[in-house]
Amino acid sequence: GSTVAIIVVAAGSGTRLGEPEPKALVSIGGQTILEHALTRVFSLADAAQVIVVAPAARLDDARALALRIAGAAADHVTVVAGGDTRQQSVEAGLAVLEPTVDVVLVHDSARSFTPASQFEAVISAVRSTGGGIIPGLAVADTIKQLDWTGAVERTVDRSQLVAVQTPQGFPRAALIDAYARAAEDYTDDAAVFAAAGLPVTVVDGDPLAFKITTQWDLRRAESILGEAAP
Ligand code: C5P
Repeated sequence: GSTVAIIVVAAGSGTRLGEPEPKALVSIGGQTILEHALTRVFSLADAAQVIVVAPAARLDDARALALRIAGAAADHVTVVAGGDTRQQSVEAGLAVLEPTVDVVLVHDSARSFTPASQFEAVISAVRSTGGGIIPGLAVADTIKQLDWTGAVERTVDRSQLVAVQTPQGFPRAALIDAYARAAEDYTDDAAVFAAAGLPVTVVDGDPLAFKITTQWDLRRAESILGEAAP
């Protein structure tokens, strides 16, 4: 058996959301974005350690909220301050992994409605492949590549594209090693992992794992909650 840690990155400012609060502390239907995400994380039987990476200025709020949702699992909750970039925030989480952990999932707090089944699929695929696993969805729009002037250069074959979500899962030692080698700032963990020459494969994502980024996403989240709490 292997032991799983889930790092929930929640330290972003949420500039594109345009709310006064950091994004993780914005409410949807009476609960914050971070609370919605953690409710699903703590429903997993498999998560031995949950690490919340929170805005430095709101560490106490994040800790109180995480411990309340963890309930009996509070002993295995660690709350740390994030950094200026997502990559630095993930590194802050990696620094506090418990010794027994051998599978690490990294999850965006802003993907608050990601179903438990998506976490379970990623965990089981990491265990069976020993490589990096990311959830992805087929791309619905036609995608164009532009030149530097903004003129369309070509249409990208969308049958070869996926839009990538979280949680992204990895064997612990390989992920730590990949982060130690990362020479630039990447937008997801799989890019850090792949830059170290390690294999990443895709499992089916879920539309409910969309990332709350703009006001439009916030309204979508409110309407999903209003229909039936997923
Ligand atoms: O900004 P974006 O929505 O792409 O961020 C994705 C996730 O990474 C969010 O959950 C956000 O809170 C987190 N993040 C972070 N630290 C940063 C930037 C983003 O934890 N410095």
